[in-house]
Amino acid sequence: EKGGFDHFMLKEIYEQPSAIQDTFRGRMLPKDAIIKMAGVEDNMKTFLNADRIIVVACGTSWHAGLVSEYIFENLARIPVEVEYASEFRYRNPVITDKDVVIAISQSGETADTLAAIKLAKSKGAFVFGVCNVVGSSIARETDAGAYTHAGPEIGVASTKAFTTQITVLTLIALRLARAKGTITSTEFRHHMIELELIPEKVKKALESDDYVRSIAEIYKDASNFLYLGRGYNFPVALEGALKLKEISYIHAEGYPAAEMKHGPIALIDENMPIVVIATRKGHYDKVVSNIEEIKSRSGKIIGIVTEGDTTVKKLADHVIEVPESLELLSPLLTTIPLQLLSYHIAVMLDKNVDQPRNLAKSVTVE
Ligand code: F6R
Repeated sequence: EKGGFDHFMLKEIYEQPSAIQDTFRGRMLPKDAIIKMAGVEDNMKTFLNADRIIVVACGTSWHAGLVSEYIFENLARIPVEVEYASEFRYRNPVITDKDVVIAISQSGETADTLAAIKLAKSKGAFVFGVCNVVGSSIARETDAGAYTHAGPEIGVASTKAFTTQITVLTLIALRLARAKGTITSTEFRHHMIELELIPEKVKKALESDDYVRSIAEIYKDASNFLYLGRGYNFPVALEGALKLKEISYIHAEGYPAAEMKHGPIALIDENMPIVVIATRKGHYDKVVSNIEEIKSRSGKIIGIVTEGDTTVKKLADHVIEVPESLELLSPLLTTIPLQLLSYHIAVMLDKNVDQPRNLAKSVTVE
């Protein structure tokens, strides 16, 4: 049942190329310049008239929501707010019938997300679901939606759900951007072609597995990790830190790289491994100067870089390469080594990778 893998988590990490492909299959036709998703088409007017999009989710799904904020705003020029479902529902939020709420949930059973949906609906908002489990409570409770089609995710630590959620949200953003005219038809097509290349590139990113394992060996006994990223890759830093916490029980924090100097820099010494996402596009020079600051304080740097990078290679203790892509799609690639890193560390520490202590696959309590 684990398909020859030692754990479901590893199997699911390796399923990502096909899971992402399954997510866009039949929905995206680059040759014909078409993206078609029934839940979006049927409600196009509502989406186009929306004052803003509010994303509600928890945990890893919330991180996918954060990535989508950057994507929606950049491509479709729609203001987006991303909310923890649990905070949103308890703070008397301002919601109107001009809001579109997107609820993201792998299981479709998360109690706080479900309650946030009910609240939004009661205020007249249109609620769109991005779920993995077909027929789940959230899929049923929402007005419309799009499934991720990632296949069953058994490992408690979410992996392929995250990348397929980002894929669905990217498709929606592209479709809305085209309908609004905020991207040209050339850009539209170009993005689709690049997205179509992602499964192959994820496969390539997975080839770093042995090298990532050797890095895990070096840092597995660290008691703290810092993860830094900017822009589209800031949420990836958060997600990398969450993965490590969940399954290896090592304390880790994700931070926007530029915020480091406003506090976390005080933590840095020779015992602190710092994972820095430093792909070539996306404020590269700024991230490189963050890396220099870390280095001058003797922090250990694990860089996630674009293939062929030389600058970060000179500064970092280790660099893990991922293929080049559009900046907007880079989270689908930079996430891969972070998943592998947390997996290998947890295995080396002899933790229960698929069923970490205190965690459940669907959190049905509030
Ligand atoms: C992370 C993880 C949790 C879930 C969160 C939301 O690996 O498993 O943080 O992401 O509980 O779950 P869903 O997406 O099912 O609503």
